[in-house]
Amino acid sequence: MTIWTPILDRSKPLYLAIADAIARDVEGGTLAQGSRLPPQRELAWKLGVTLGTVTRAYKEAEERGLLAGEVGRGSYIRRPRATAPIPQTQTEADGIIDLSHAIAPPVVTGEEFDAAMQAVMRDPNKLNLLDYAPPEGFPQHRAMAANWLKRSGIDVPEQHVFISAGAHLGLVTVLQAIAAPGESIMAEEVNYALLPRTFENAMLNTVPIAMDEDGLVPEALDRAAQETKARFLYLVPSLQNPTTNTMSRRRRDAIVAVARARDLTIIEDDIFRLVDERTQPPTFYSLAPERTYHVTSLSKALAPGLRVGIIATPPGQERILRTFMRSMASRNVGLSGELARFWIESDMVSAILTRARNELSARRAAFLEIFKGCSFRCEVAAPFAWLELPQPWTSGRFAGAIAARNVRVNPGTSFHLVPGRQSRHIRVCFGGPKAGHLSRRGFEIIRELMNSEPEEDFTPVA
Ligand SMILES: Cc1ncc(COP(=O)(O)O)c(C=O)c1O
Repeated sequence: MTIWTPILDRSKPLYLAIADAIARDVEGGTLAQGSRLPPQRELAWKLGVTLGTVTRAYKEAEERGLLAGEVGRGSYIRRPRATAPIPQTQTEADGIIDLSHAIAPPVVTGEEFDAAMQAVMRDPNKLNLLDYAPPEGFPQHRAMAANWLKRSGIDVPEQHVFISAGAHLGLVTVLQAIAAPGESIMAEEVNYALLPRTFENAMLNTVPIAMDEDGLVPEALDRAAQETKARFLYLVPSLQNPTTNTMSRRRRDAIVAVARARDLTIIEDDIFRLVDERTQPPTFYSLAPERTYHVTSLSKALAPGLRVGIIATPPGQERILRTFMRSMASRNVGLSGELARFWIESDMVSAILTRARNELSARRAAFLEIFKGCSFRCEVAAPFAWLELPQPWTSGRFAGAIAARNVRVNPGTSFHLVPGRQSRHIRVCFGGPKAGHLSRRGFEIIRELMNSEPEEDFTPVA
């Protein structure tokens, strides 16, 4: 056994300090490949920390691929791999607290990942995954997706379900398949930040529609449809990005009535729905299947890196999408679709989802505590908050000033479909950092800055 006494950076959580020391000493050669680390209890005693801290540190090191544990034989420094290891993310390496990504906390464990990889490795047909996938997705992934949509109350045959490399590409694909350049598309005036550019790329005119506390206003939609002759409507009905609003059933019914009267095609982006475990109003796809394209993905519920997106077409419209996808020659997800399929069909996904929701809920509770007395919107289950800044802060100035303190948030201006709108909001996301204490620290830094006046020389960030 190796005699190893790490030097710890005690300014960080101790388990991370120990894991970092293992990484440093492997890199520096103090810990040789294949050598055995001291038993956990012994190291805990030597460092004056709890056994739990060392257990967590060894687990962290194992997840980073530094250690291999063998039952009854202790923990060994892994033998090197033939290629450089997967690098840390840049923000982690730079000590940045990134609250700018609307994602669920990373909760898939190394064991769950290994279980899915091993299932693929043991499959006699695994090499099929190296072939071109059909443009509309492998049949087993379309079946998985049709099954997944049942969780949203959508019962749809597999032939109406397509796989795309994420919801964003699903949206782009639908727009390009059904809308001709020069047409107009209506959408909530405060919206998903990539939307203006996405509409622009598809050569569509954006028509922002007014919102109130319950989201898009049906009367404003009706007026705009009449005036602009727009045929398309894009919506995020559940946990809208960035306002966190989940539209009531009444509001959905009123919008469907306008859509039917004006013969609108609805593109429903329901990407956040399953982050909320509570029963929600029916999807637009359920309320008006004859005119709705439903777009979602596993990015927010499971892991964005899987790039598994799902599109359900209105009955009878699947040919348009299939023909378009074939003409794009887009090839679909294979290996990552299999990982998702393993988690979903083995129902490991339920435990993963519960963990993600619980972790989000703990981070949301920290947000509510720290921003008590401030003005914000953060509906139950939301993975982010829409926070109003006190005077005289503006969103760009604040985002710039907080970035200088190593915290990233999105300025409100980036969510306005009307260009040039000033904003006094920022979006603060909960899920990005690996650990909850980092999100909390980020919230504290934001709160502190809100209490101070902007300095004259800050450069505004758009
Ligand atoms: C409303 C909305 N739609 C789509 C996306 C993109 O999803 P995906 O990662 O599945 O492409 C996002 C990402 O944040 C989003 O907020």
